[in-house]
Amino acid sequence: MLTKEVQMDRLAGQGFYVPDWLLSCFCDNELDTCTESMRHILVMNAKGGCGKSTLATNLAAYYAQEGYSTAIADFDPQQTSLDWLKRRPDTYPEITGVPAFESGLKHLPRTTEYLIIDSPARAHGSEITDLVKRAETIVIPVLPSPIDMAATDRFVEELNQVSRVQKRDVKIGVVANRVRENTKVFDQLNGYLDAMKRTKYAAVLREAQNYNRAYARGIGIHELPEYLAWQDWERWDPLLKWLWSKSSQ
Ligand SMILES: Nc1ncnc2c1ncn2[C@@H]1O[C@H](COP(=O)(O)OP(=O)(O)OP(=O)(O)O)[C@@H](O)[C@H]1O
Ligand SMILES: [Mg+2]
Repeated sequence: MLTKEVQMDRLAGQGFYVPDWLLSCFCDNELDTCTESMRHILVMNAKGGCGKSTLATNLAAYYAQEGYSTAIADFDPQQTSLDWLKRRPDTYPEITGVPAFESGLKHLPRTTEYLIIDSPARAHGSEITDLVKRAETIVIPVLPSPIDMAATDRFVEELNQVSRVQKRDVKIGVVANRVRENTKVFDQLNGYLDAMKRTKYAAVLREAQNYNRAYARGIGIHELPEYLAWQDWERWDPLLKWLWSKSSQ
């Protein structure tokens, strides 16, 4: 998303007069704080409890630990991500919390390099469209369960109605979460995610106590000691690699 100023400059440079009402069609007022270099990663699935907040908090901690100016916007009134942030010790890299469920992205610092967006369960219709316009990448966690696969199917169907998704302006990655390998239901999830169209099957994350440990301390699994978390780091690698790559942006 270009800032209003950049769009104005570019169009004015070509001799066009651009009225404000037209600019507002290109750039949401609330997103005026966004800069061209800001990366927006939206974690979303209408199915509750599939790991949206877990992925969002861990992504935020990862980018903060990598040295980027990072913010987490919580669109869920449950505030799971903001509660996690309150637990974060001062000794860890700072992350800005944005209470987006009440005031959108108004308080997002302009200097933010990585914005991770946590979304509520049961989002649908215009709420999905509204969230999707805020990101160039969507990460969808899915649990190995027939109920979750069926719910994700309906959600992805709805997501595919959004014009930004149809135009591939936004890239979608799916993540198998809370996986116990060598189970029949994981085989089913694997086949399901493999066959999903227009999405990247980005990672398989295992069921692990480390996620609860990290949440309780306000940190991410990449901030846990290596001897505890190396198996999870390995499973996160393909997701992070995809998020670094051009194909996710
Ligand atoms: N890979 C994992 N291993 C173990 N526990 C996990 C894992 N991922 C998530 N959990 C646990 O599952 C529960 C639900 O996760 P989380 O809150 O992230 O889901 P959510 O999609 O954000 O839920 P909601 O729809 O209510 O916002 C939490 O207790 C979380 O700690
Ligand atoms: Mg949540």
